[in-house]
Amino acid sequence: MGRIIAGKTSEITPGKMIKVSIDGKDILIANINEKYCAIDDSCTHSGSSLSEGKLDGCTITCGWHAAEFDCKTGKLSKFPMKIKDLSSYNVTVESNSVFVEM
Ligand code: FES
Repeated sequence: MGRIIAGKTSEITPGKMIKVSIDGKDILIANINEKYCAIDDSCTHSGSSLSEGKLDGCTITCGWHAAEFDCKTGKLSKFPMKIKDLSSYNVTVESNSVFVEM
């Protein structure tokens, strides 16, 4: 699919998460201390939108049942049962625009 613009850096300020829809797929973009990361937005437990959860450092906590994922890798970091990791994507910044590579 290639490199797709996800937004402007001014829209994704430090500590903020946004959801963008790229080719029908919801992707979460987060800004962690000026470093951007991108993972699937849909929780692998029951499909909650993770961008409506909580971001603390690199950890995203799902707003429904509190599964925790590492925002940089998409890996599950805490939940009482095994659920799938999220896919993660490379992010680049160029001319104040944030691009996701898919
Ligand atoms: S939907 Fe995310 S933990 Fe249940």
